[in-house]
Amino acid sequence: MVGTLQHITFYNGQKMPIVGLGTWQAKVGEVGIAVDAALAAGYRHIDTAYSYRNEKEIGDTLKKWFDSGKLKREDVFIVTKLPLIGMRHSGVEKYLKKSLSNLQVDYVDLYLVHNPIGFQDVDDGGYPKDKDGQVLLDMTTDHISIWKGMEAQVDAGRARSIGLSNFNARQIKRVWQSARIKPTNLQVEMHAYFQQRELRAFCRALDITVCAWGPLGTPQIYSFVEKQGGDVSKLPRYDLLGDPVVKRIAQKHGKTTAQVLIRFLMQLEVAVIPKSSNPTRVEENFAVFDFELSPEDMEALEALDKGREGRLGSEHSQPGSGRHPEWPWFEPY
Ligand SMILES: NC(=O)c1ccc[n+]([C@@H]2O[C@H](COP(=O)([O-])OP(=O)(O)OC[C@H]3O[C@@H](n4cnc5c(N)ncnc54)[C@H](OP(=O)(O)O)[C@@H]3O)[C@@H](O)[C@H]2O)c1
Repeated sequence: MVGTLQHITFYNGQKMPIVGLGTWQAKVGEVGIAVDAALAAGYRHIDTAYSYRNEKEIGDTLKKWFDSGKLKREDVFIVTKLPLIGMRHSGVEKYLKKSLSNLQVDYVDLYLVHNPIGFQDVDDGGYPKDKDGQVLLDMTTDHISIWKGMEAQVDAGRARSIGLSNFNARQIKRVWQSARIKPTNLQVEMHAYFQQRELRAFCRALDITVCAWGPLGTPQIYSFVEKQGGDVSKLPRYDLLGDPVVKRIAQKHGKTTAQVLIRFLMQLEVAVIPKSSNPTRVEENFAVFDFELSPEDMEALEALDKGREGRLGSEHSQPGSGRHPEWPWFEPY
């Protein structure tokens, strides 16, 4: 299996490179350097979102590569996401056009609905909040009408594929049943402490591929929650990159713990989008095609799963968001 596992394939035949560069919290002034390092290292998949506020610099870097002739547009799989402030039928085209303009491309390879909940459409550079720091929700979010807006983007050629992010199984099923163009991919939190076995099996049955956010255990989530005014003491404190089992397996293979955590998800046939703004770590995270975890290694890593206790994404990232009727994570999966 060494040297294989380059892509995961959607039901429509489209191939998504199995390792991509994550860019959440990759700052303007840094993200271009990270994307440059990633493309030089061989990454051909970049994950961003309108709400990361870094699409423009990613677009500038991609344009440089395309203009130089070193890469063609079709060589790079670009993913972006409908922001929570755009969660209504008319918001889909409005915000995808903004993303395309930022990214300086005519289409994205995959457009995801970022989250099942909706915020009021206030685009002031952050999330709209009331005077108590609670996010301003739009309680009328209608997934079916939003999905029709997503399908229209495929028809118009602005997105090759469409998918979902952070939806639970019930919400996915409802969209899937009503869809003319089915979702190709689900992007959700997934790592060795939160392996999402039921949700993976559920997606497999519907022929929806999975992409893991937070594959290294999303260590930057703690500073993010603090920045958003959330109660960070409510989150479990984990250090997945320092886990002794992961360390032991890494030592055995002469690899780093990050590389083992990425390879673990690849061998579960899940796409992985580790984020780094550091060019050396960007390279490190892509050097995962020259070794293979044994069945015993996989078993030991599978035993690290903490089930729902392993989840780090929570309403504390956006104080008040748990009041939305489509808040996804009160249900088992
Ligand atoms: N759909 C969603 O709602 C959603 C939510 C969260 C994330 N995402 C996507 O998924 C991507 C990955 O998730 P994530 O950013 O939360 O977490 P992650 O990839 O698990 O971890 C990123 C963190 O680990 C550090 N890191 C990266 N490589 C490392 C290495 N080799 N050794 C040690 N530390 C390393 C990074 O710091 P440095 O930058 O300093 O290297 C950063 O703090 C995001 O960037 C984003 O594209 C999507």
